[in-house]
Amino acid sequence: MALLEVNGIFKRFGKTEVLKGIDFSMEKGEVLAIIGSSGSGKTTLLRCLNFLETPDSGRIVLNGDEIYNAENKYTDREIREKRLNFGLVFQSFNLFPQYTVLRNVCLAPEMMRINQSETKLTRADKARIKSEIAENARGLLASVGLSEKLMNYPCELSGGQQQRVAIARALAMEPVILCFDEPTSALDPELTGEVLRVIKELKDAGRTMILVTHEMGFARSAADKVIFMADGVIEEYGTPEEVFGSPRSEKTISFLEKSLENIT
Ligand SMILES: Nc1ncnc2c1ncn2[C@@H]1O[C@H](COP(=O)(O)OP(=O)(O)O)[C@@H](O)[C@H]1O
Ligand SMILES: [Mg+2]
Repeated sequence: MALLEVNGIFKRFGKTEVLKGIDFSMEKGEVLAIIGSSGSGKTTLLRCLNFLETPDSGRIVLNGDEIYNAENKYTDREIREKRLNFGLVFQSFNLFPQYTVLRNVCLAPEMMRINQSETKLTRADKARIKSEIAENARGLLASVGLSEKLMNYPCELSGGQQQRVAIARALAMEPVILCFDEPTSALDPELTGEVLRVIKELKDAGRTMILVTHEMGFARSAADKVIFMADGVIEEYGTPEEVFGSPRSEKTISFLEKSLENIT
């Protein structure tokens, strides 16, 4: 059984139809790269999966459970719970500037386990949970190479380091699928490598990930499957060898030629 099934997702903003029937599925442990020109709907698709946008029609099935069906109505609380299945790392890091690195990573899990707890917690419970969360956060920050920066503020870090904090922060919520929206596009070229390396390590550790990227070389080497999006549809889908090596659609061929020109 597929881990994630996306069926018939449509999304419109006013009169503009941005997603025009998106269907795909992915397996546990798979890395899916999504490529395509600016404006093709990649960010909107990720935002739909993270429930930051509400698809107008379609359904999302995770582990065999229908977690979203556009025909149903969901409460804010239900949407918050569903959102936890997906982590999202943004292009522009979106760290809280007023908090330390460690605090940035601990904040959301504390909100979830303490502030939104359904049972009444004693002071001792809260202290125990906080220390568990901090312990886990330290481990995650170590895994992205930032043990030395726990008490620093985002403004004291390079863009690559900030993005690695954002990755640790997303992992702290233990998402089933981790999504990245052009995670290196705001970075100077010399800093992209350190972020891509972390993503590669997550892949090697078996993480299921969806990666919207313009790093064609990385998509080709790190992804198991590639989606090429154009004008709100999946124009081409296949293994990196298929999509990059022998693309079938004219639009894919033309897009890949253009990306190659930009590199050379
Ligand atoms: N909130 C919004 N309101 C209106 N139009 C939007 C909104 N978000 C995205 N769009 C439009 O949807 C299209 C696809 O955008 P986007 O998903 O950001 O594409 P990509 O990430 O592939 O560049 C664009 O034409 C964009 O202007
Ligand atoms: Mg985008």
